[in-house]
Amino acid sequence: MSVEPAAKPVRRMTVPQIAARKGGAPIVSLTSYHAHTAAIVDRYADFILVGDSLGMVMHGMESTVGVPLDLMIMHGRAVVRGTKRALIVVDMPFGTYEESPNMAFRNAAKIMKETQCGAVKLEGGARMAETIRFLTERGIPVMAHIGLTPQSSHVMGGFKTQGRDEDSWPLHEADAKAVTEAGAFAIVLEGMVEPLAARITKQVPVPTIGIGASVECDGQILVLEDMLGLNPRPPKFVKVYGALGEMIEDSVRRYAEDVQSRAFPTEVQVYR
Ligand code: KIV
Repeated sequence: MSVEPAAKPVRRMTVPQIAARKGGAPIVSLTSYHAHTAAIVDRYADFILVGDSLGMVMHGMESTVGVPLDLMIMHGRAVVRGTKRALIVVDMPFGTYEESPNMAFRNAAKIMKETQCGAVKLEGGARMAETIRFLTERGIPVMAHIGLTPQSSHVMGGFKTQGRDEDSWPLHEADAKAVTEAGAFAIVLEGMVEPLAARITKQVPVPTIGIGASVECDGQILVLEDMLGLNPRPPKFVKVYGALGEMIEDSVRRYAEDVQSRAFPTEVQVYR
């Protein structure tokens, strides 16, 4: 009788493993907000972001500004429960980290304890460097997010592509340098012109994760619902891989017709 070797236990991706991918095989990432979709994404993604875009995507908010900490924790828990492989990164929502490094630590520690995620993400470059250093020195891995930072959309006057004016490039480059020196293990580059994202990627020693940035980035991320075809007006930088919106509409329409014509339930779906 042959004895099968025991299956290797699945290990979660770690922060150092993601950091070590600088310049290597591109890092695959998507957002997820609930357990079932996260379980599917988990089979392909290196890290999953529980992004505060969930306020707009799942809860119909106008921007990410209104997202409360408890909502991030609730969705973070669901995603951690639904996954075993990918590193889970949870966004710190607006108003939970900007005031002081102490406040940021308190809220980041709450996120990590209550969700069991592996890292947090926060928006801001040089202005957040002190906070990033404070968190990383105290055991909280931080992914930084620069370029178009949606939590500052009121200051920016909307969701504006960054770096269109070449004179602004040194500021973005300084942001990338500052968060890296402060200890961020990766940087999301959102909504910035392609050559700037490519330059930053060459300049920093940690992986850059692009969204509306450049193929030169060390990895890419998209909002899952956008790439699945659930957003009727996806941003230009989204490549739509699915037609989930149409599929849901078609399924719901056929269900409604079946209920109205008493074609559902049939013999197969009832208990005798
Ligand atoms: O909240 C989010 O989904 C994000 C991504 C756009 C990077 O921060």
